[in-house]
Amino acid sequence: MLQVTDLRVDYGNITALRGVSFEVREKEIVTIIGSNGAGKSSTLMAISNIARKSGGSVHFKGQDISSLKPSAIVRAGIGHVPEGRHIFPFLTVQENLMVGVSGNVRSSRATTAANLDRVYELFPILAERRNQNGGTLSGGEQQMLAIGRGLMVDPEMLLFDEPSLGLAPIIVETIFALIQKIRDFGKTILLIEQNANMALAIADRGYVMETGNIILSGSAKELANNPSVASAYLGI
Ligand SMILES: Nc1ncnc2c1ncn2[C@@H]1O[C@H](COP(=O)(O)OP(=O)(O)OP(=O)(O)O)[C@@H](O)[C@H]1O
Ligand SMILES: [Mg+2]
Repeated sequence: MLQVTDLRVDYGNITALRGVSFEVREKEIVTIIGSNGAGKSSTLMAISNIARKSGGSVHFKGQDISSLKPSAIVRAGIGHVPEGRHIFPFLTVQENLMVGVSGNVRSSRATTAANLDRVYELFPILAERRNQNGGTLSGGEQQMLAIGRGLMVDPEMLLFDEPSLGLAPIIVETIFALIQKIRDFGKTILLIEQNANMALAIADRGYVMETGNIILSGSAKELANNPSVASAYLGI
């Protein structure tokens, strides 16, 4: 479904990605794990064309989307739930969900209403708090809001950038269970995580990234059992 080939990203004279290649098949959960600064967020931002690529290509369902605008990439069917959540603190929960939907050709009024219902069904806490300002939600609730917003355009594929960052372990479990549920709805998922234990527990396959390169790949099980992954990323 997604084919990333020889992706390179430079920020001035800092090289963040040095030729990254990987693929995600339909209805898979694929994770990219790696330490701080490895290039995980840059990879997602390059796919969404938020970060400028200095080389390489991205194909989605056979179409070259490498130079599409970020909004066109969303319309093509890729939703991005960025790191740090980026919700609007002074908009209500419902307004936050509606941001980015207006003007999106994928979203007629009827499908928007249906998508909103689906998000509220998935996250009852958001339905309960629909008129509360986003900034007054707890960290876990804000993460749910960010994921809900990603689902509002009903993308076929979702890119998650460290959805567990800064959350208490019990909330992390809730978020990961939700990501599995979203896949079970038929979505394809690329999940970037520092929490390698949790990511490998729900993923089908994974890649390990270090200083702008993919250094290992395999089934989630193979990676979890790999001694160098275990010592570097699983705290074993
Ligand atoms: N806008 C920028 N300007 C300059 N350097 C940048 C910029 N964004 C990222 N970098 C650098 O690129 C490298 C990769 O950063 P990136 O954010 O992709 O890492 P990451 O794997 O997501 O890390 P983390 O787990 O800490 O979020 C880092 O060395 C970072 O300092
Ligand atoms: Mg990051």
